Amino acid sequence: MSNSVVNMYSDTVTKPTEAMLQAMITAEVGDDMSGEDPTVNRLESMVAELLNKDAAVFACSGTQSNQMGIRSHCFPGDELLIEEQGHIARFEGGAPAAISGITTRTVRGRHGMLDIADLEGKVYVDNQHLAVTKLLCCENTTNGGGGRTWPVDQIQRVCGWAHEAGLKTHLDGARLFNAVIASDVHVREICDGFDTVSICFSKGLGCPMGSVLVGSAESIRRARRVRKMLGGALRQAGIIAAAAIHALENHVDRLADDHANARAFAEAIADIDGISVELDGVESNLVFFDVDPAVGDASQLSAALRERGVRIGAMGPRTLRGCTHLDVDREGVMLAAEAIRNCVHAGIQQFAATPFGPFCRA
Ligand SMILES: Cc1ncc(COP(=O)(O)O)c(C=O)c1O
Repeated sequence: MSNSVVNMYSDTVTKPTEAMLQAMITAEVGDDMSGEDPTVNRLESMVAELLNKDAAVFACSGTQSNQMGIRSHCFPGDELLIEEQGHIARFEGGAPAAISGITTRTVRGRHGMLDIADLEGKVYVDNQHLAVTKLLCCENTTNGGGGRTWPVDQIQRVCGWAHEAGLKTHLDGARLFNAVIASDVHVREICDGFDTVSICFSKGLGCPMGSVLVGSAESIRRARRVRKMLGGALRQAGIIAAAAIHALENHVDRLADDHANARAFAEAIADIDGISVELDGVESNLVFFDVDPAVGDASQLSAALRERGVRIGAMGPRTLRGCTHLDVDREGVMLAAEAIRNCVHAGIQQFAATPFGPFCRA
């Protein structure tokens, strides 16, 4: 590690590499809102071709890209179905309701994933009392589900079921390439069953910002209108698209290193008294682990770690999430694991606790 701070708070904290900056500086640019930025056009074609979809559109963020996808399928009064841990349901500010006038119905699954048995009986009949069940949203890898990857046969089965039921399907692929690497399959095997897929470049792929939504020509045409309404249609966005192209060409295979570092970190903390981690659940770059109540709260451990130069966030009263990425190496994750051991050993009770975790008031 080049400095003493180990930031495992999120994979969104990465800084662009020298090579990425060089690609950004030398990017050919134009007015993307008029479809005239050659680098954005190239990125959109690359991603559409990679996923074997008709078209793609660049977006500022994963939230924007998800909401563009949702709005491309739904009208006010419709509803979407999603596993209850889904980012779209929990962490996008209620955007489906606010932006598209649609309701979100959450379904309990396992580790952020659903199967047909969870969904059967959930699609409303056409009845004036009821919202129109229009869309199924999935997430791969699952963030709230612990970084798990959907078994490919399960994701294909669920998409097949949704289409049979007359629903559209959207994939929040903020960490799609982590899923590709973890599952060791071609990206199309994961994406074929989805009408739209949102991919983030600002997570494991290490870009400063940017997402892409892919889908049918008609969905993407509609999504472009939504992007414009959201203020997300940019001008010389090629400087950002160049980073994304660089990442697609150079940062996908290396996600395996992040996954190996996550595993090494999980194994290193697994034998700390007062810390529990489900090793089998560590499938990608996210490591969720719990602190024993006798030791203290997750927020206290997070604060104690911060004093030692390690950033790992509390995700609930007992649960923390450590995240590996381009800017944390093996030495870094081992230092973080050692810091956890030292904090637990030294005691964390002197740090202020957030009584109910970071997200709930009561
Ligand atoms: C699974 C998932 N989807 C969507 C997003 C939203 O991305 P953004 O922060 O770029 O809006 C995130 C952000 O962390 C995420 O983890």
